[in-house]
Amino acid sequence: MFDQISAVPADAIMALMQQCKADTRVDKVDLGVGVYKDVAGTVPIMRAVKTAEAQIFDEETSKTYVGTTGRVGFRDHVLDLVLGADHPVRGSGRIASTQAAGGSGALRLGAQLAFTASPKATVWVSTPTWANHIPLIGSTGLRLETYPYYNRETLGVDFDDMLAHLDKNAKPGDMVLLHGCCHNPTGADLSPAQWDKIVPFLNARELIPFIDLAYLGLGQGLEEDGYGLRLTVRDCPEVIFTVSASKNFGLYKERVGLLGVICADTAHTAPVQSQLGAIQRTLISMPPDHGAQIVERILGNGDLRRLWIDELAEMRGRIRNLRQLLSEALDVQGTKHIARAVTHQNGMFSMLPVTKEQAVRLREEHAIYMTNSGRVNIAGANVSNIPAVAAALLTVLS
Ligand code: LMR
Repeated sequence: MFDQISAVPADAIMALMQQCKADTRVDKVDLGVGVYKDVAGTVPIMRAVKTAEAQIFDEETSKTYVGTTGRVGFRDHVLDLVLGADHPVRGSGRIASTQAAGGSGALRLGAQLAFTASPKATVWVSTPTWANHIPLIGSTGLRLETYPYYNRETLGVDFDDMLAHLDKNAKPGDMVLLHGCCHNPTGADLSPAQWDKIVPFLNARELIPFIDLAYLGLGQGLEEDGYGLRLTVRDCPEVIFTVSASKNFGLYKERVGLLGVICADTAHTAPVQSQLGAIQRTLISMPPDHGAQIVERILGNGDLRRLWIDELAEMRGRIRNLRQLLSEALDVQGTKHIARAVTHQNGMFSMLPVTKEQAVRLREEHAIYMTNSGRVNIAGANVSNIPAVAAALLTVLS
């Protein structure tokens, strides 16, 4: 049966993670895979998570199935968190949602729903976008096209080009994939003023926003990072959005995510909701429960929620401090524009103007791991290794 099967190259980020793990140099610096590391260089379990887990361990009495769309409480709390409990659409009856196996599971479900509803639609993705967006969405049969986004010269968003390109090429009914905040892989986000412009732009052209919100709270703050999604959901008749709890709850391996769908009117909500359950049933039957139970408990309990918000603020503060330190270390003749970009970008990532050859040199000669595209996970660095990272960068860039 497998005579005709050929090997496929490993996903670049996963391969980089393995390569770094296997590197025995003690001073190696892992700026590859997008995980948050603390001062000790470990990927910590948040205290709120540990506490919730202990409570669940004591109180849980059954491991019976929950259902194809997961926990109602989880969905309600996450929707309140990302949209705001008093968001005008919350009580409108226009939201369908499902728990998903991570943000990736949510992306796959959302894409499958879109393919079911509109198989000829194209999904427009930014250049660049998270590499896994392409197979996750494309494997449903949906067509993918790109729009200009990150300018590797200015290290910022080419907003006018983005709009001009979509204006010329996207057709009504197409979807535009936007990163809610902390753009992966560039760290270059749309500003609130740009969200204010893009939302009416999409509506005027009947383009449907597909928003991936994987890093809420790791950029500017829980409120600020949700600006784009909240505005879009308020003003666009139809929206698909995905939420991940991997990074902001540190629940990477538990696979916790949510897919939300805003329907144009209430008559569509029940059919869409039924599709979400049916699609999930076809793919994985039911989403994993443990992580979702933790998130539901944290968001539903005043003390745990406050603890989580504080811990998240601590993580965000640490990332911003590391950005500042890296920026200061790079702020020399010839790299001032990089230094500026590093502080302006948001979340875990920045995309540096490093070539593939330079990224390989950084790995081989300096034990510094980043993707070949020049994406660095700032949250993987440390106050103690930032000077070495900056020095190595300046060496390969010179
Ligand atoms: C990343 O971008 O590094 C993370 O989202 C991990 C992954 O699955 O690629």
